[in-house]
Amino acid sequence: MKIIRNINTLTKHLELLKKNKIKIGFVPTMGGIHQGHQSLISNSKNKKLYTITSIFVNPSQFNDKKDYFNYPRNLNNDLKKIKKCNCDLVFIPVIKDIYPKKIYVKKIVKEYRNILCDNFRPGHFDGVTTVVKRLFSIIKPDFAFFGEKDFQQLMIIKKMVTILNLPIKIIGCESVRNKNGLSFSSRFNLFKKGQKNILKKIGNIINRNLKKNSKNFNINLLLKELKKIKINKIEYIEIRNDKTLHISRNNPRLFISLYIDNVRIIDNFKLY
Ligand code: PAF
Repeated sequence: MKIIRNINTLTKHLELLKKNKIKIGFVPTMGGIHQGHQSLISNSKNKKLYTITSIFVNPSQFNDKKDYFNYPRNLNNDLKKIKKCNCDLVFIPVIKDIYPKKIYVKKIVKEYRNILCDNFRPGHFDGVTTVVKRLFSIIKPDFAFFGEKDFQQLMIIKKMVTILNLPIKIIGCESVRNKNGLSFSSRFNLFKKGQKNILKKIGNIINRNLKKNSKNFNINLLLKELKKIKINKIEYIEIRNDKTLHISRNNPRLFISLYIDNVRIIDNFKLY
């Protein structure tokens, strides 16, 4: 597995690949690699694509500086996990490569905004689209893979590619879930033992409620049970149409965002 940190070295290598008509699959990450990322890399490899993973903790998508500094970083561990998936190349840029002049954000996508995470993390999605656009312009992949765990992000990136008319196919991949039924998240690495127990309880509660009646899912019942285990900071629990993100019981998907102490977790569950 090649590891490239320098943008010029990467560009030269990519030119060679293009010359040989090799198709590229791209998995952008901020590190904190888990089974979810690994499945994105495997998806790309299964399509016989030359697979590039990037690791870059993007400062412009953190509306909270503390969150940026506390974000889990463990490069050696990440590289080991990426290598296990037979990834071909890992690109690890520095801030100057991505933002040569200064860190900036540009609003590219106006759809799917002012709802869900966008309500609670102002500017976050502008930071995401800014960095993904920049990474796409460096790597020029044929395919890019994103997890459904960040469902709103996936929809916004698909929209960005349409707006900018980029020749990249965005592949959304189903969440990989832990044994408690929650989608893996880099932030789980921040949890101590007590918090892991709470996470387990949350997973059990959600999945018990999903099993009861996913077609007519009862949000109030779920809320009540979460309050019982003292989950008090809940940003949203909503059911939305997963094609439009409108509040609806057509093509319904349950979207959840809550905190365990100061760690924010999000997840979503297809209800049909
Ligand atoms: O989903 C993430 O990890 C990030 O938002 C992404 C897409 C790598 C952009 O920084």
